[in-house]
Amino acid sequence: MTKIAFFDTKEYDKKWFDKYVSDDEEITYFESRLKTRNAQVCQGFDVVIAFVNDELNADTIDAIADMGVKMIALRSAGFNNVDIKEATKKNIIVARVPAYSPYAVAEHATALLLASVRKLHHSYVRTREFNFSLNGLVGFDLHGKTMGIVGTGKIGCIFIDICKGFGMKVIAYDPYPKADLDCEYVSFEELCKSSDMISFHCPLTKENKHMVNDESIKNMKDGVVLINTSRGALVKSSALLKGLRSKKIGAAGLDVYEEEAGLFFEDKSNAILDHENEILTLLIAMPNVIVTSHQAFLTEEALQKIADTTLNNIRDFVNGREVVNRVQHD
Ligand code: NAI
Repeated sequence: MTKIAFFDTKEYDKKWFDKYVSDDEEITYFESRLKTRNAQVCQGFDVVIAFVNDELNADTIDAIADMGVKMIALRSAGFNNVDIKEATKKNIIVARVPAYSPYAVAEHATALLLASVRKLHHSYVRTREFNFSLNGLVGFDLHGKTMGIVGTGKIGCIFIDICKGFGMKVIAYDPYPKADLDCEYVSFEELCKSSDMISFHCPLTKENKHMVNDESIKNMKDGVVLINTSRGALVKSSALLKGLRSKKIGAAGLDVYEEEAGLFFEDKSNAILDHENEILTLLIAMPNVIVTSHQAFLTEEALQKIADTTLNNIRDFVNGREVVNRVQHD
């Protein structure tokens, strides 16, 4: 029997893991996130299933290794929260789910775009109050407008097809352009100058942190719409707030936020947010900003794939096969 400890459990995770778990596996679900201070609960487990906000630093890894854990199976693509070097030192295998549903994310970006441009968030609230006035709801046609796409990987390419379906002109920036992509590549500077809307679909790296800053915003068209379903820190939040206040930026649809850890995925409706979250509070209060809490991946198809791949990673390890989705220290 493979004994598995599952952390940061949400009901939507449990549904799919319960469906795919086999008779040779026993999952114990913990609602808490895994941290150094609660690592002792891993005693007696062979495998830990963790998510993006579990704290798998060197101290946690040392502690769980001492308790006999042999594998960390991440149910995410990203692994920046795991000290891979320490895991290798302690002979703990780390695996991840490299891709789940690029359609889920591209379609959520489209939802944010349409809701922002056609002010659906306002209409929804108004008609619930039987206010059928149209004042203040004027949008614009997407057809014929220019969409700038940053990052033309799996998600970016699907989003390009969707935008073309709307009759938009699409331009893109990617330091590693695809030879066969039917789309004009331009520099990021040119993309900022020429786009009515910009959508981000690239990973966060040291080089592109805060690529949306005072300087690049100055370069953008007046009234530009920004959509970010990628990583929060691509956008310097104080610059975004300034751009919205000056009306340089017409609207923003954000699924990710620079300092989302500890907030997104949690119910904070009864909490009073402290000064560290002031910019987010001000952004959420703006009529032309829509924030979703890192929800773009959240479809049945993606959750199914996450459960299936995570459990198959564990089975590869337990049965002595090569763990194809293993993350190695370089
Ligand atoms: P991918 O690896 O298929 O494509 C990424 C693309 O970005 C590649 O073409 C790469 O050349 C390009 N790129 C790398 N550095 C760049 C830079 N500095 N500027 C512009 N382009 C750059 O990745 P995929 O699957 O398309 O995912 C894209 C991003 O979407 C992920 O890195 C992640 O941050 C985000 N994501 C968000 C989710 C959500 O729920 N909001 C879920 C899954 C992914």
